[in-house]
Amino acid sequence: MSSQLEPIKDPGLPAHVHRKTDTDPKAADRAERQVAAMFGISALGTVLLIVSYVFIPDDVFVFIPIMGNQNAHQLGLGLGMAIALFFIGLGAIHWAKTLMPDQEVVMQRHEFRSPEQDRKDFVDTVKEGAASSGLGRRSLIKKSLGAALGLSALSPILLLRDLGPLPGPEQKMTNWKSGTYLVTDPGDRRIKASDLEVGSVAQVMPEFADPKDRHLDDIAKDALLLIRLRPSEFNLEPDRLAMTHEGIIAFSKICSHMGCAVALYEQTTKHLLCPCHQSTFDVTRAAKVIFGPAARPLPQLDITVDGEGYLIARKPFSEPVGPSFWGREK
Ligand code: FES
Repeated sequence: MSSQLEPIKDPGLPAHVHRKTDTDPKAADRAERQVAAMFGISALGTVLLIVSYVFIPDDVFVFIPIMGNQNAHQLGLGLGMAIALFFIGLGAIHWAKTLMPDQEVVMQRHEFRSPEQDRKDFVDTVKEGAASSGLGRRSLIKKSLGAALGLSALSPILLLRDLGPLPGPEQKMTNWKSGTYLVTDPGDRRIKASDLEVGSVAQVMPEFADPKDRHLDDIAKDALLLIRLRPSEFNLEPDRLAMTHEGIIAFSKICSHMGCAVALYEQTTKHLLCPCHQSTFDVTRAAKVIFGPAARPLPQLDITVDGEGYLIARKPFSEPVGPSFWGREK
């Protein structure tokens, strides 16, 4: 046996295997139709996005098995964009794999900067490749790609619409008016003071003649927290105490920092806590901020009862609810 090591032989390149579409014109035409179909589906995805954006109200929900109730507007936008981008990419890959030139090229290594002639050759090769991709000959692909690309370019332009209009005065107003009944959420039942035990907390909404007219925008502004303490536990100015009823006090649930729902109540300390950035409000002192980034207390709603003992708003909020970014006096 020879003890000398033998150099590994250059295995060379394997024999080039031609694709079916290189040799069979019918297969090439079939591939062309498949690519065009993918670009067509992409264009339909963009149409779905546009239709969802323009025609589907943003408070319509549809039931999808497994996923549950979904916002139809958001679902249409997401599905439309996903279909448009996925199929335009898939079509391009299929086009490259089946119809674009399939030549193997061997090049020797060279200096980093190519000689001028090579650079010029490269540009010529790119132009030649573009020409040989068949765009000129395959008009079906050209048209469907043009439609898909043109429509997909509309999506970002369409979304510019979300930059306006500027928030109007409706952002500063809620549906709480003088005499509005407080109703349970969910359930829309009027509430009597006696329904609330000392120490309890409830989320309530203003009563609507038809609860179906209550939109997400309304809920985002109107949500109210109702908390019952012993009247002796309050540490309030007389004007604030007059806004309570038998130990029941009502605050906007919308955090005065950035508008999250103030959802946590610590019964022992009487503190309301916003889970987003931990702003903490003292219920006994008219939701004064005792910790966190919120700059002002939660607005308090003036409440009383009607002749039958149902809780109603005595007045609207005296200040806008929610974040402090559009100029607050308090
Ligand atoms: Fe409530 Fe930031 S939104 S603390």
